Amino acid sequence: MGNIALTDVIPQDSLERQLYFIEKCKAYVADLQEKLGRPLTCCTQTFGCQMNARDSEKLLGILTEIGYVPVETEEADLVLYNTCTVRENANLRVYGRLGHLNGLKKKNPHMIIALCGCMMQETQVVEKIKQSYRFVDIMFGTFNIFKLAELLYSRWTQEDQIIDIWDSTKEVVEELPTMRKYPFKSGVNIMYGCNNFCSYCIVPYVRGREKSREPKEIIMEIERLVKDGVKEVMLLGQNVNSYGKNLSVPVTFAELLQEVEKIDGLERIRFMTPHPKDLSDDLIDVMSKSKKICNHVHLPVQSGSSRLLKLMNRNYTKEHYLELVDKIRSKMPDVSLTTDIIVGFPGETEEDFEETLDVVRKAKYDSAYTFIYSKRTGTPAAAMENQVPEDVVKNRFNRLLETVNEVSRSISNRYEGTVQQVLVEDVDDHDASYVTGRMTNNILVHFPGSKDLIGTLVNVRLTECRGFYYMGEQENA
Ligand code: 5AD
Ligand code: SF4
Repeated sequence: MGNIALTDVIPQDSLERQLYFIEKCKAYVADLQEKLGRPLTCCTQTFGCQMNARDSEKLLGILTEIGYVPVETEEADLVLYNTCTVRENANLRVYGRLGHLNGLKKKNPHMIIALCGCMMQETQVVEKIKQSYRFVDIMFGTFNIFKLAELLYSRWTQEDQIIDIWDSTKEVVEELPTMRKYPFKSGVNIMYGCNNFCSYCIVPYVRGREKSREPKEIIMEIERLVKDGVKEVMLLGQNVNSYGKNLSVPVTFAELLQEVEKIDGLERIRFMTPHPKDLSDDLIDVMSKSKKICNHVHLPVQSGSSRLLKLMNRNYTKEHYLELVDKIRSKMPDVSLTTDIIVGFPGETEEDFEETLDVVRKAKYDSAYTFIYSKRTGTPAAAMENQVPEDVVKNRFNRLLETVNEVSRSISNRYEGTVQQVLVEDVDDHDASYVTGRMTNNILVHFPGSKDLIGTLVNVRLTECRGFYYMGEQENA
């Protein structure tokens, strides 16, 4: 166990190199397991968005390949936090939980604590952990998650904390094992990074510049997933509308969708996230004609005030956004629309806020993710004057929630009585004789059924709307 033998030649090719380290780790884990007389366990915790969730599947894929057994509890031999830094709360939660992990590590000398993801791309965070959290074994960022096995092996062969943070995408290794949370649906990265620099947002600084994957690679990955039982994919990018612009042979997102649509055996296509500034007519057209693209658009508005939208560097106005919503609804009358909204951006006045409420009422969202503005060091908005007082923000936030709920209640029962196709995901949490699934518009449905239905598409009559979800009965069961 231990050092790399001198006779070993570490492969130069990125993929070969990682496969080599996976083998090394496998041997190490097998050896340690034998010594301890028990399996080694791992626990991954994901903070933040769908990108991180997909990254965690890749990380867990490597860990299980090495021989770790995934568990839910943090009393494990390896705990990995895939962190988020989009709002300060997410950072505070990580610091809060690290103390607890230290306690667990004192009881288990073999325990490895690893941190990765967006927080690690911030220099001051890494410095703080280096200084005050010496018990953290490994830190890596968003650009090199594929190196997990190599980093782990380095930790086992040297005493020091391992820190490997890149500041841009030098290379991406996509072909490593992944472990999907659901066998029947999967995220698929179509691009990495973001070039928009919305003035409040830290993402462009921690995820780097936009980089699209070649359509061929994406299609091949989805074909492999479908062969492996996947029925639904979620195409992931920070701004999918700018997909393909910088490829050597440029491709639009609408064109990519048409190619994905052709994949036999794939039933449903979702995507996240489009930016209102460049959502094209072509995309709306492709969506409205598609049999596979889901009837749901998540279209972050952030604010209803054109003045604030300008300060946010969003590149659209309230009027443009509402026109876009009308255009989408005119081609897809049944569409479900959701959004992200920030309250308390610097300088937000009561009038600005009322404009946001007005958009919520006019756009008639099915639901909205609402956020209190969080000052992120290094972003232009952090240096803006007129930060809004906390009590004012809280008051507006509550009023926003009320309006969002009012609007969604007023439209939520519009599918009652209809028959909808549902992809069954799980046994119902509350009653094991029921299952839970999602309609194409992403709304949840519960209906009587057994676990054999999981991963299948079922026609369900929606008998009752209960706020944010429906109860139903299987048709022709
Ligand atoms: N403060 C609050 N919310 C933010 N978001 C991004 N940055 C911030 C911030 N600094 C929200 C936006 C984005 C979502 C993913 O997170 O609404 O769409
Ligand atoms: Fe952040 Fe704007 Fe990029 Fe979204 S589009 S990740 S909000 S900078």
